Amino acid sequence: MNNGIRTIAVIGGGGFVGHELCSQLAARGYHLRIPTRHRERVKQGLLELPDAEVFACDVMSDAGLMSALHGCDAVINLVGILHERRSGDFDRVHGEFPRRVVEACKRLGIGRYVHMSALGASADAPSRYLRSRAAGETAAHAAAGEAVQMTVFRPSVIFGRGDSFLTLFASLSALPVVPLAGADVEFQPVWVDDVARAVVSSLDLPETIGQTYELGGPDVFHLRELVQKAARAAGHDPVIIGLPGPAAWLQAFVFEHLPGPIMTRDNLASMQVPNVCRQPWPALFAPGPQRLDAVLPSMFVASDAMARYRQRAAR
Ligand SMILES: NC(=O)c1ccc[n+]([C@@H]2O[C@H](COP(=O)([O-])OP(=O)(O)OC[C@H]3O[C@@H](n4cnc5c(N)ncnc54)[C@H](OP(=O)(O)O)[C@@H]3O)[C@@H](O)[C@H]2O)c1
Repeated sequence: MNNGIRTIAVIGGGGFVGHELCSQLAARGYHLRIPTRHRERVKQGLLELPDAEVFACDVMSDAGLMSALHGCDAVINLVGILHERRSGDFDRVHGEFPRRVVEACKRLGIGRYVHMSALGASADAPSRYLRSRAAGETAAHAAAGEAVQMTVFRPSVIFGRGDSFLTLFASLSALPVVPLAGADVEFQPVWVDDVARAVVSSLDLPETIGQTYELGGPDVFHLRELVQKAARAAGHDPVIIGLPGPAAWLQAFVFEHLPGPIMTRDNLASMQVPNVCRQPWPALFAPGPQRLDAVLPSMFVASDAMARYRQRAAR
């Protein structure tokens, strides 16, 4: 690597994407700093990466953020949530936090920032999740100015071992009937390894500075097809019933009041627009992305996340 980067802080690196991304970064010889609020929950593989410090830290505090970024040459921000625990969490975590990270980069003289957003982020998107994503991108860009070189990624739904999307549906498909909100919504699932590969490559490619990249896989599926595929890969064949609007709203309302919600009315609102990229896979991140069908068969073999969701579904 000739990009002048030796040490990278991967904030939110303790999660699903972080695990694959940090593995690829470590394989490239970077020194990694990975702050997490829950070191005990981080996968063993992450703790065992060569030249990676995984440490307990609350990056939402100014002091925690500064200490996490200290000594770094670049920052990758993977922090994100799908559901709010408290009102205003989307604004804090997606809207404001990216600006605070970029400002911390400026104070510490860190010149490179890679930001993970989400496909569909837009100021006039139908959900608070997607609007907060757009607000975060805008605020980070404004703070970065000329001082911090920034690249944004907007992936569609990301799949891979340990994901929380197909794994959840595979688990729910053990039921004989799956009532499904948004059954006809289009998604363009992208493999976690390909997302990580694009992010890692961007560090070496000056032309990615100031750019935003949508990332999707080679195929577009209706949610119903994705659930069917996940079910079959997990050895199930449930009847999938698409829920019409009011029933979908009621299901989301009920689900969002369960502990550890799996679906909220805001998630449902996100599905008012197709989750499909406007452009093909960016040529500078060649080769193109892997097909879902090639990865799916290996996804549900004795996975920890699968066992977790099975337990939850059985309760
Ligand atoms: N997975 C997908 O399908 C998908 C699709 C589009 C975009 N994305 C975006 O890609 C990024 C990574 O996704 P992922 O699937 O890896 O998510 P994930 O497994 O849930 O990991 C997200 C990370 O965000 C951190 N985080 C969340 N809330 C936080 C808070 N209040 N304070 C500090 N840290 C917080 C967590 O850090 P701790 O280790 O401290 O818990 C966690 O490691 C996210 O921004 C996500 O929105 C994901």
